[in-house]
Amino acid sequence: MSQDQQKRLAAQAALDFIESGEIVGVGTGSTTNFFIDALAGVKGRIDGVVSSSEASADRLKAIGLPVLDLNRTGDLSLYVDGADEATAHLQLIKGGGGALTCEKIVASASRRFICIIDESKLSDHLGSFPLPVEVIPMAQSLVARKLIAMGGQPQLRADFTTDNGNVILDVRGLDLTDPLAMESKINLLPGVVDNGLFAARRADVLLVGSDAGVRQMTI
Ligand code: 5RP
Repeated sequence: MSQDQQKRLAAQAALDFIESGEIVGVGTGSTTNFFIDALAGVKGRIDGVVSSSEASADRLKAIGLPVLDLNRTGDLSLYVDGADEATAHLQLIKGGGGALTCEKIVASASRRFICIIDESKLSDHLGSFPLPVEVIPMAQSLVARKLIAMGGQPQLRADFTTDNGNVILDVRGLDLTDPLAMESKINLLPGVVDNGLFAARRADVLLVGSDAGVRQMTI
């Protein structure tokens, strides 16, 4: 089975977590796109969606779902999104698509975060995927120097601006053995908007698509 087929399986399984009349938080990326495609079949059952990116908002509007403003909805019951890397502790690296800040906002506003991945994303320890850090443009060099001092090797994501008008530094080599501590430490650097570690707000359920079907992982 291809990676895309595994993603589609996980995305389809996330539909089971939706209750009638809910407003659903929706993430960003190719796995989430499969979820959005699947949402089209149940759109009569939900009251609307809150999107974590302009790209997902466009896709959600195209299937006729009302895209709502988080400032008006208040807390959500459910958020569904993919990840670049995930552990059995349900801690994640996200932001491969550059939407990490808004993803973390919507995840934080949601009582349940269902993370949908194919099995290639599962790993024993976070760190094989370079950690995305969203930075205000004028602080790009300053933050890069601080990240180097912390043991990282930052690289500016080429030709990319986030929905918030910022840049992304993709950082290899950081010691992520304590993801919670590193998430806070990076976010204390002036100029950093947020980083792609989802440890303080990890997933509540991991749905892993594989050739054997969908494995559900919780803590
Ligand atoms: C976007 C993300 C995505 O969830 C992550 O990059 C996974 O993407 P894909 O589903 O395409 O593998 O964090 O910012």
